[in-house]
Amino acid sequence: MIDLLNTPSDVAAFRTAILSWYKVNKRSLEWRDSDNPYHVWISEIMLQQTQVTTVIPYFNKFISEYPTIKTLASTSLDEVLSLWSGLGYYTRARNIHKTAKILKKDFDCKLPNQIEALMSLPGIGFSTAGAILSLGFEQSGVILDGNVKRVLLRISGNKSPMNKYKTEKSLKEFANILLPDSKHKEYSQGLMDLGAIICRPSNPNCSKCPVDEDCAANQKEIQNEIPIKITKKAVSYTHLTLPTKR
Ligand code: ADE
Repeated sequence: MIDLLNTPSDVAAFRTAILSWYKVNKRSLEWRDSDNPYHVWISEIMLQQTQVTTVIPYFNKFISEYPTIKTLASTSLDEVLSLWSGLGYYTRARNIHKTAKILKKDFDCKLPNQIEALMSLPGIGFSTAGAILSLGFEQSGVILDGNVKRVLLRISGNKSPMNKYKTEKSLKEFANILLPDSKHKEYSQGLMDLGAIICRPSNPNCSKCPVDEDCAANQKEIQNEIPIKITKKAVSYTHLTLPTKR
């Protein structure tokens, strides 16, 4: 068992390493030019199941068509769905529209800055709420997108399957311990970019990693074995009787 990130000074050094790396290596993405919580919300929902490069033109179009929550709330669902066309997972667009209406009715057309209130809104879960808090309000908030989950699983040398409830729970706890007291936006984006650029799903570039010495997977040379995903059991159809042709 390798004991890493066990003391407050190790954790402080980890945060500093992420922040310094991010300063030099950050990706330039449209939604990062803004810390408007509305922009953060829309980009996060689009990024939930869609690649960054696909999201960029949709995000720009969305914000130029609906520059405020008020304009979005007064638009018909059909219009929003038509703008969303091609992005897929249309429940996201329906939830955005529902949430805009709730924000207009109950929140003075603003996103709230408390995790419970955010998570009560349709389509906003733990990680999206964390993103809105840290990127839009400069408050403490955990983002657990796929990139961050992979980074944290490798850092902690955690071989539990990524998409299991228990793993999610321990990742939330670990992510919380690592959170800095300030620079929430840079830190969150630093972890996401580290996952996208260095701690890639296969062939992670550990020699360029700013936190390689804190990483249990790297120390044990098991980085390519993490994350583990549960594979669904193959269904056997041999017992089924197929209808005979007439
Ligand atoms: N994935 C989820 N949120 C993201 C963000 N804000 N920037 C880049 N990738 C992301």
